[in-house]
Amino acid sequence: MPNDRLAAARDAALAALSAAEAADDLQEWRNQYIGRSGEVTLLLRSVGSLPAEQRAGFGQAANRLKNELEAAFDQREAEIKADSGPIGAIDVSLPGRKPAQGRLHPITQTIREITAAFGAMGFQTFEGPEVELETYNFDAMNIPADHPAREMFDTFWLDRVDDEGNNSILLRTHTSPMQARIMESHEPPIRVVVPGRCYRYEATDASHEWHFNQVEVMAVDEGITFADLKGTLYEFARRVFGPERKVRFRCDFFPFVEPGVDMGVDCFNCDGDPACRICRGSGWLEILGAGMVHPEVLRRAGYDPERYTGFAAGMGVERVAMLKHGIDDIRHFYANDMRFLSQF
Ligand code: DAH
Repeated sequence: MPNDRLAAARDAALAALSAAEAADDLQEWRNQYIGRSGEVTLLLRSVGSLPAEQRAGFGQAANRLKNELEAAFDQREAEIKADSGPIGAIDVSLPGRKPAQGRLHPITQTIREITAAFGAMGFQTFEGPEVELETYNFDAMNIPADHPAREMFDTFWLDRVDDEGNNSILLRTHTSPMQARIMESHEPPIRVVVPGRCYRYEATDASHEWHFNQVEVMAVDEGITFADLKGTLYEFARRVFGPERKVRFRCDFFPFVEPGVDMGVDCFNCDGDPACRICRGSGWLEILGAGMVHPEVLRRAGYDPERYTGFAAGMGVERVAMLKHGIDDIRHFYANDMRFLSQF
């Protein structure tokens, strides 16, 4: 009976269709059953060779089967597409999305620039503890307990003392204590640059953060003079702020150096324009404090100040970055706003 052949073709086709798993299988299935020379198509075409009384019934049944199989095909195709998820749905003609590119924080970049400038002059980079002993942060730096200079440093004290029960612990207020730590553990000649995070217990505003970064610089050896300080810091300024820069040194006081100075560079933004928003018309930017290491600091670290001399300098990294990039508020650095951070 011809209708039996239709039923057999239907069973075979539906079984094969549910076994199809990919677009290729579907294509093959279509060719085999409902394509131009597919089984069901051929059956349909065979109507003409049947006895006249069977033609109408068989033709209708064969057509129904073809329609049924086409509908089953569409459904299976949709299932396979859905299973293969977005990959099946990729439109290769869409323009790509640019992946967001990461970068170093501007403060990290600035620290690297500063340490590289000194590194090129033979200074080694060191790091030290942010939780520091009072003796290193203050006493070793020639700032005894009753010294008024302690008032310069509003300090976060920790609620404990050292293992012997007598040395208070704090968050370091500057990187200078590393001068003493390095001198104690190394023999001269010493040339070091020490970046690090510092903390001060003070209100936040456009130029103050309760935590910030400093870079400490120190050279100690026999015969180091103030000329070495000037030459080294001048070279640093040219490397970080541009080869045209001029520097000036003015007297300043820091308990751990004698004499002490601050160093300014001529403003790279203006020619003394009174409206310059970087130097506010003064033509100069104060960059760092420096001086010859105080004999008392050398002596406390176990060095003979009659034999060894040295210079030291310290600078605020945020300030350097703000001046370099014309940033007017230190708080931008720590607000984690991508509109700010992605400019660097
Ligand atoms: N430690 C000082 C501060 O935090 C900065 C400083 C000044 C460091 C002069 C030095 C220096 O090494 O010689 O304000």
